[in-house]
Amino acid sequence: MAIERTFSILKPDATERNLTGAINALIEKAGLRIVAQKRIRMTKEQAGTFYAVHKERPFFGELVDFMTSGPVVVQVLEGEGAILKYRDVMGATDPSKAAEGTIRKAHAKSIGENSVHGSDAAETAAIEIAQFFAGNEIVG
Ligand code: CMP
Repeated sequence: MAIERTFSILKPDATERNLTGAINALIEKAGLRIVAQKRIRMTKEQAGTFYAVHKERPFFGELVDFMTSGPVVVQVLEGEGAILKYRDVMGATDPSKAAEGTIRKAHAKSIGENSVHGSDAAETAAIEIAQFFAGNEIVG
């Protein structure tokens, strides 16, 4: 399988509970390499752009409010089949449906406050990475 890069966010419910290290340990244990990482406070504009695909959904306003409610850690993860692998490591969006051993099973509070985001495909990964990182900030 090819080496890929995917985009990850450790969400405000995770940073609030000081879980950056615990989640990063699960990421690294799965064989993914954190090749870029920064802790930021997202603006409403950044969150609205990032989640534009969901703007007609009833939870869009709540999602933007949540993602701007505290610090997040944005990351680029690299590894073999990184996009699908990270989705496996995260577990289902709804933590009540997440498998044992996944980040969301261990840490997520609800479908909204679900601790992590990961890209769903190669095209979205490239767009999401470019929204938050310059090429020279990613060191593989
Ligand atoms: P994420 O992978 O970041 O992509 C879109 C996000 O929308 C998703 O994780 C959830 O956090 C959020 N989301 C999805 N469904 C709902 C919902 N029913 N209510 C609130 N937030 C939701």
